[in-house]
Amino acid sequence: MNKELITLGIETSCDETAASVVRGRFTELSSVVASQDDIHNKFGGIVPELACRRHSELIDPVVKSAMEKAGVGLEDIDIVAVTRGPGLVGALLVGLSYAKALAWGLGKPLVCVNHLEGHIFSALLERPDTPLPLVALVVSGGHTELFYMEKIGDIKWLGGTRDDAAGEAFDKVAKLLGMGYPGGPEVEKMAAHGKPCIPVPVALMRSGALEFSFSGPKTAVKLIVQGFDNRGEARPVGDICASFQKAVIKALTVKMEAAVEKTSPKAITIAGGVACNGALRAEMRLLGLRLGLPVTIALPYLCSDNAVMIAAVGANHYLNDPAAKEWTDYMEADADPGWIPGL
Ligand code: KG4
Ligand code: ZN
Repeated sequence: MNKELITLGIETSCDETAASVVRGRFTELSSVVASQDDIHNKFGGIVPELACRRHSELIDPVVKSAMEKAGVGLEDIDIVAVTRGPGLVGALLVGLSYAKALAWGLGKPLVCVNHLEGHIFSALLERPDTPLPLVALVVSGGHTELFYMEKIGDIKWLGGTRDDAAGEAFDKVAKLLGMGYPGGPEVEKMAAHGKPCIPVPVALMRSGALEFSFSGPKTAVKLIVQGFDNRGEARPVGDICASFQKAVIKALTVKMEAAVEKTSPKAITIAGGVACNGALRAEMRLLGLRLGLPVTIALPYLCSDNAVMIAAVGANHYLNDPAAKEWTDYMEADADPGWIPGL
């Protein structure tokens, strides 16, 4: 019997330096994620130059640690998979240059992977038997996008946000309320202590278009906070967070339902950092029950950026066409910071 493929995955598109080893199409052997929250926290958001510098420092130890944890040496790696986009160009270039040099040096195939397709796969890692086609909502700090996946490698973009990503809106609301970065988990924690009793308007809700807009709810929270401050009243932080969170989740579920109506998939998937949110997970499961569709959601540790999902995409693409010439076009592998699959 042939030995199963061993893939080294590398991810540096944003503020996590990550490496992973995957066996076959979906079996995680190791996952190492070095977060940079500590350096970006005091700025309330990601500082690209600092992110690049930290990636350069961490990439080698992170890859070595992932290989050690998986119990594999360089001689065991069959292919290298790396994120080529979308993301911060300087950050992408660190992982890509490292992966390119490693694959070239080893004489092994290099598979360039789309980060958003990676997020969709993070849900499939949990349930590789998820029926296809599926509709996937990728909801993170940089993206809020709906995709239709007919089969592995065949993705269509259905729609996305016109302005802020949902996670970005969570982060900005958190900053406004004096909380740390990333703001989503903090807002969720405070929301648990409040009631969604303050109206937070969300645009585009009545339009059947598969589009989101989250700058409105963010500005609404700003005005709500200013109102309390101007009146000299204490800010009901729990209620503000609960009301904002409810508005965002409503928009995400309404548009997911619209996407399902348009495309008649066999399953629903959500992934990306915001998919860690317990209330969003619960609402999506309810939506699935109502629509009679299975709902696959990435495990919380795979919702945020990681390299397991990147390795899994790389392994699947490679195994579907092992002889493709592009796997050894090392010089063609360049960062693509705005790459949306299926657009
Ligand atoms: O996928 P991810 O780790 O990185 C990007 O590719 O952007 O997503 C990070 C985003 C941040 O905006 C963070 O605030 C948000 O996901 N997030 C959450 C929660 N956990 C992380 N948003 C809402 N609720 C959460 N529990
Ligand atoms: Zn991401």
